[in-house]
Amino acid sequence: MRFDVMTLFPGMFDGFRQTQIWKRAEAGGLVSCDFHDPRDFSRDVHRTVDDTPYGGGAGMLLKIEPLVDCLEAIPRVGKSKVLLTSPQGKTLNHPKLLELASWDQLIIVCGRYEGVDERFIEGWVDESFSIGDYVLAGGELPAMVLMEAATRLIPGVLGNQESVDQDSFSSGFLKYPQYTRPVDFRGRQVPEVLRSGHHELIKRWRDEQALERTSRLRPDLLGDKQSEPHKKR
Ligand SMILES: C[S@@+](CC[C@H](N)C(=O)[O-])C[C@H]1O[C@@H](n2cnc3c(N)ncnc32)[C@H](O)[C@@H]1O
Repeated sequence: MRFDVMTLFPGMFDGFRQTQIWKRAEAGGLVSCDFHDPRDFSRDVHRTVDDTPYGGGAGMLLKIEPLVDCLEAIPRVGKSKVLLTSPQGKTLNHPKLLELASWDQLIIVCGRYEGVDERFIEGWVDESFSIGDYVLAGGELPAMVLMEAATRLIPGVLGNQESVDQDSFSSGFLKYPQYTRPVDFRGRQVPEVLRSGHHELIKRWRDEQALERTSRLRPDLLGDKQSEPHKKR
């Protein structure tokens, strides 16, 4: 899977590209990414990419010419889609990420300032996505959110596929509580059943916990499957 990111701030991705999951996926040839700066496609000596909005109002907008020229210079690979980061887009969720992870190439356009000229959205963007109902200063963090969340769904990226399948949302439920050593920390004990070695009992306990936790914290996820998380896992 290939990511092409259009951004005025490619340096923001340096740390992200050092993360273990990304480095492993890139080294294994499972993902690749390239960065494209619309400023390189500006048509004046000042490398201007923004201008004031028609009709007045606060802030600046990204101009259409450098955006289109930058986008059209990106080589298309296989099944390819252009995504715009926008607080007005549909909020990312697990089913959407599964769908996006199946594309060969995602071109992610990072907005900045007050946003982008609407004609770019109408003519060149396939879909806008948001990471939540709040406004950030730019689309770089949403782009990283999408890249990391989609990458970990690609088969082979995580060492253990089971950990993806049992994650919150993948299973249709929130994940059960987990513990590691020590058994006792200031009187707080790891539940006895998890130390029993009895696989059938452990599985049943985890299913019950997942269902209880989902009902309490995210009843909206349950829909018509009010019971029996074990059937999903
Ligand atoms: C300051 S915001 C512009 C907000 C715009 N004026 C509005 O009210 O809808 C600048 C850019 O940050 C990105 N952005 C901000 N919040 C976002 C969010 N919740 N999800 C995805 N992208 C976001 C978008 O690319 C947006 O164009």
